[in-house]
Amino acid sequence: MCGIVGYVGRSEAAPILLDGLRRLEYRGYDSAGVAIVNGEHVETRKCAGRIAELGKLMAEKPPTGTYGISHTRWATHGKPTDQNAHPHFDASGKLALVHNGVIENYQALKDQLLQDGDDNFTSETDTEVLAHLIGKLYDTSVAEAANAGSNGNASAQLPNNKGRLVEAVRTALRQVIGTYGIALVHRDIPDFLVGARRGSPLVLGVGKEENFLASDVSAIVAYTRDAVYLNDFDVVAVERDKFEISSVAGQAGNYQLSKVEFTDADIKKGDYPHYMLKEIFEQADSVRDAMRGRLSPEECTAKLGGLNMTPAQLRDVGRVVLTGCGTALHAAMIGEYSIEQLAQIPTEVEYASEFRHRNTPMTRDTLVFAISQSGETADTLGALRESRRKGYRTLGICNNVASTIARESDGGVYMHAGPEIGVAATKSFTSQVAILTAIGLLLGRMRHLSTSEGTRIIEALEALPSQIEDVLKLSDQIKAIAKKYASVNGMLFFGRQFNFPVALEAALKMKEITYLFAEGHPSAELKHGIIALVRPDLPSVFIAPDDAVFSKNLNNIEQVRARKGPVIAITSGTGADRLAKIADDIVSIPIVPDYVSPILTVIPLQLLAYHLAVELGRDVDKPRNLAKSVTVE
Ligand code: AGP
Ligand code: GLU
Repeated sequence: MCGIVGYVGRSEAAPILLDGLRRLEYRGYDSAGVAIVNGEHVETRKCAGRIAELGKLMAEKPPTGTYGISHTRWATHGKPTDQNAHPHFDASGKLALVHNGVIENYQALKDQLLQDGDDNFTSETDTEVLAHLIGKLYDTSVAEAANAGSNGNASAQLPNNKGRLVEAVRTALRQVIGTYGIALVHRDIPDFLVGARRGSPLVLGVGKEENFLASDVSAIVAYTRDAVYLNDFDVVAVERDKFEISSVAGQAGNYQLSKVEFTDADIKKGDYPHYMLKEIFEQADSVRDAMRGRLSPEECTAKLGGLNMTPAQLRDVGRVVLTGCGTALHAAMIGEYSIEQLAQIPTEVEYASEFRHRNTPMTRDTLVFAISQSGETADTLGALRESRRKGYRTLGICNNVASTIARESDGGVYMHAGPEIGVAATKSFTSQVAILTAIGLLLGRMRHLSTSEGTRIIEALEALPSQIEDVLKLSDQIKAIAKKYASVNGMLFFGRQFNFPVALEAALKMKEITYLFAEGHPSAELKHGIIALVRPDLPSVFIAPDDAVFSKNLNNIEQVRARKGPVIAITSGTGADRLAKIADDIVSIPIVPDYVSPILTVIPLQLLAYHLAVELGRDVDKPRNLAKSVTVE
């Protein structure tokens, strides 16, 4: 579920493949490899560990050739070892394949291959089984053709062999249960790549006398901005100057050439030491972009044309379900508060992974939103498909344009946050919350919300970018707090109402990049058990802006203080004065209405996790064990 890059053209493939892998590095992986065809040889370099290690291997003995494939692996079947790293070969050693995803029935397929006398497996991966299966089907078809007496002229056979390889891929994939994005080369078929996808993304980059395959367009945007986002069950045959898309079933495929929205410059770190910090600091702009052209001061509402819904359909929504995973789920939880408060429509939040497998009672007038930065998360995609299968209108809130969730939904809202490279989601969260607030406003204005209430909400949303700038100025203060607590073993996070999900999100950020134990809870839950954990070396972070529940939060803070627990408070308005004597550290941010408060309160907490992780020497952008886009269930 990590990275694939393939190249066929006139340039040396090695630097392009390695550069592409580096651009996917942020996604998290445990091994890397390349296979480049050089006449008679398939030159393979692969190893467990970083791409830098692979780079060294390639520098020691540079592989040459103008077509090849490369991969970063996030191990699912077999440990992250040199042997298990991709590419994997078929029994003949001529076909090399890289794969993202999981072949669920690999054991049954392997048993069959073993029974047929193929026992030349060298790894523990599910992927190798697929390589063997395709290779066997291809070799059989070539042998059959030879036996049937097709002419012996090798070059005249080439087009047929290309067709045979594609057919072997199709036949193999029809037997596969599971998910795959694959790219493969065969030593005997020059300047030819085959790719296919189901469940794991794959995009074709179309260049001038060169073409690319990649699991994410950011790997190849430096070379071309013309892309074809492949659909599930697409098989693509790629040559230097042409490509052909068909389906696993063998039908000719339709495709659309898209222009990639961003450029190579957008995915550079600039002067920031980490992508995560850059993305935290981009939030004034990303929230502005989430709102751009979507607020109508004249009609005092939001305009979200991408929802593809008529006013009557919007008016008739009786229930909303918000689904997603991780950070997107936390944004959904805030959306539940906003939509219920602003539109008074009953709203449920469902973990995507649970929603798709359980029998949630739904009403005919339910509107479902699948929220996902990447638009490729397997659990969220599964929830979306299940919801659509049952006939519910299902909309996407995605960042990646033309991602699978965006394409498969009935409509939706793009975040326009720009590429998010840091594995820990930051700017996508605030964009999601802003968009969900706009949805609350729109649905509210179809019902009871007055024009003056609508105007107030628009003003609150429009004020956010400059307030975010003010919060970002606190980075140095938060860095000092992070240094002060650098030796703690963990942190607790508490908030109420709109800021309870922020406590969850802050704890997730802390876990992901510092590896410290962290938990988020509604503040009032403290006394129901969590208080047993409170002690002098476990700080509690309270998200306690100056709002209707401030005094309730104050009581909870007192309870922690009484047990000698250190308190860090994120507050606003008069909160700083009222907390002066009881909190150890106070971060004071602008005062705003409760429904937009999370967009400001989360920022100091993103910064706290970031500065603490840097202090602890963690790999902030590529935390251990994590992947940016989780395309396995
Ligand atoms: C966030 O910091 C995490 N890396 C993770 O929880 C993420 O939010 C989750 O996997 C969902 O990703 P998506 O938004 O791309 O669907
Ligand atoms: N299932 C394959 C393996 O474990 C591919 C994992 C991936 O998506 O990187 O090797």
